[in-house]
Amino acid sequence: MSKQYLIGLDVGTSGAKCIITDDEGVVVASSTQEYPLYTPKPGWAEQAPQDWWDAVVRGMKAILEKSGVNPADIAGVSYSGQMHGLVALDENNEVIRPAILWCDQRTQAQCDWITEKAGGLEGLLTYTNNQMLTGYTGGKILWLRDEEPENFKRMKLFVCPKDYIRFRMTGTLGIDMSDASGTGFFDVRNRKWSDGLIALAGLDKAIFPEAHESTELAGTVTAEAARATGLPEGLNCYYGGGDAIIQTTGGGMVKPGTLGVVIGTSGNVSMALDKYEDNPNGALQLFCGNEPGSWMALGVTLTAGGAYRWYKDELCGEESSRAKSEGRNVFDVMGETAEQSVPGANGVVFTPYLTGERCPYPDPNARASFYGLTLSTKKGDITRSVMEGVTYSLKQLVDIMGGFAQNEKVYTSGGGSVSALWRQMQADIFDLPVYTMSAASEGGAYGAIMVAGVGAGIWKDLKDAAGIIKAETETHPDPANQPAYSKTYQLYNQLYHALKPVYDQSAELGY
Ligand code: XUL
Repeated sequence: MSKQYLIGLDVGTSGAKCIITDDEGVVVASSTQEYPLYTPKPGWAEQAPQDWWDAVVRGMKAILEKSGVNPADIAGVSYSGQMHGLVALDENNEVIRPAILWCDQRTQAQCDWITEKAGGLEGLLTYTNNQMLTGYTGGKILWLRDEEPENFKRMKLFVCPKDYIRFRMTGTLGIDMSDASGTGFFDVRNRKWSDGLIALAGLDKAIFPEAHESTELAGTVTAEAARATGLPEGLNCYYGGGDAIIQTTGGGMVKPGTLGVVIGTSGNVSMALDKYEDNPNGALQLFCGNEPGSWMALGVTLTAGGAYRWYKDELCGEESSRAKSEGRNVFDVMGETAEQSVPGANGVVFTPYLTGERCPYPDPNARASFYGLTLSTKKGDITRSVMEGVTYSLKQLVDIMGGFAQNEKVYTSGGGSVSALWRQMQADIFDLPVYTMSAASEGGAYGAIMVAGVGAGIWKDLKDAAGIIKAETETHPDPANQPAYSKTYQLYNQLYHALKPVYDQSAELGY
């Protein structure tokens, strides 16, 4: 039989990534097309859904041309996308206003309102197993009701970003269960909309799109979309999933016990679950996974690699100049400085709460700090403490995940996985073997490939599909380093609680 091909696309926040792979998961061509993000007011974040579609059209044409694949050999398409965005559609399925994105912070009042209506956090968890975070779609729907009643009245249905792209490709509307989980109105346990919470909020059930499993067939490419993209008319399109979930699928984290750790601008720890679990104090995001009968636990720390980048920009001018004059990467130079210190950074502890925190402390007032400076503190200690502080913050999430299944290994990705020092630090602090995996840099688009391949029958299920992912590096804990890290981790664990009154007071003082 001739080779078959699959297409995965990711509607990201800075651009849309389209990839085409063969039926063994080898990437044949890839294209990323960017678009703008608008911030009409501080704390707001919006995008034009038409920009996403235009980018996908350009990306599809580019990968078809670069790969030279015969479109007739493509077996299926699936989707990943930034989660939680509100795309409001009118009765003609036209977009009513710019999409409100996951990183938009305008909805605190609405999130507090619905939480109170549900009887507080405990009550809310009984409906959805999740908090209503300001980033979630639910608060945005309520904000539209409160602040733009005309637009709210015109909204006949909402979808999330990747669902809008699937609609433009297939003409059919719907949402997958992982993205539906991130609306805050989904009964994650029973994999259906929470009629109870929708009624409590006084919303019309009709605005909630039909929810389907990620690997289900959603529709086929229309004649119009075929003309625009070059894809064959009638090609099968599968539902796909929210990026935070489908990228862990795409990284091979499909079994309990395998932890995904991402050190990007923010950081996260995730674990696939093969049975439903309660969300302890709502600390995690507990969402439906990309296959029937699977769930995903996700903990997000808001500033991870972003803290190290901030430290570079604000406090590492000397390292930056040296890197420039020697034609080297500044992070390599900073890594050498960090290596002049020792595990535990001679007692310097950094808390990375530069933009408040989400998990395990959902607290916008939390602030970053360096603790333990003395006259003998060296630059190397401070540099190392930033890397360690970010890793301690992730370790707290790793510890919570250990409550679901015995932690066995970590698949690490993102900028923080590039440094051998940071990978060793992760292995030592998590006390687990740490691997980097072959497809990790493809992100959500690769998860979409796996979902499309399962939908098209190339792989039996996602565990079978994960067989295409191979380990690239392997790092084991060094017992000599662990005592020092466990001492400073004890200090790290106390700092948030000790400083909490100061965080709240400084917020009152306007800082
Ligand atoms: C997940 C989340 C982000 C967005 C943007 O909860 O907020 O991962 O999906 O990528």
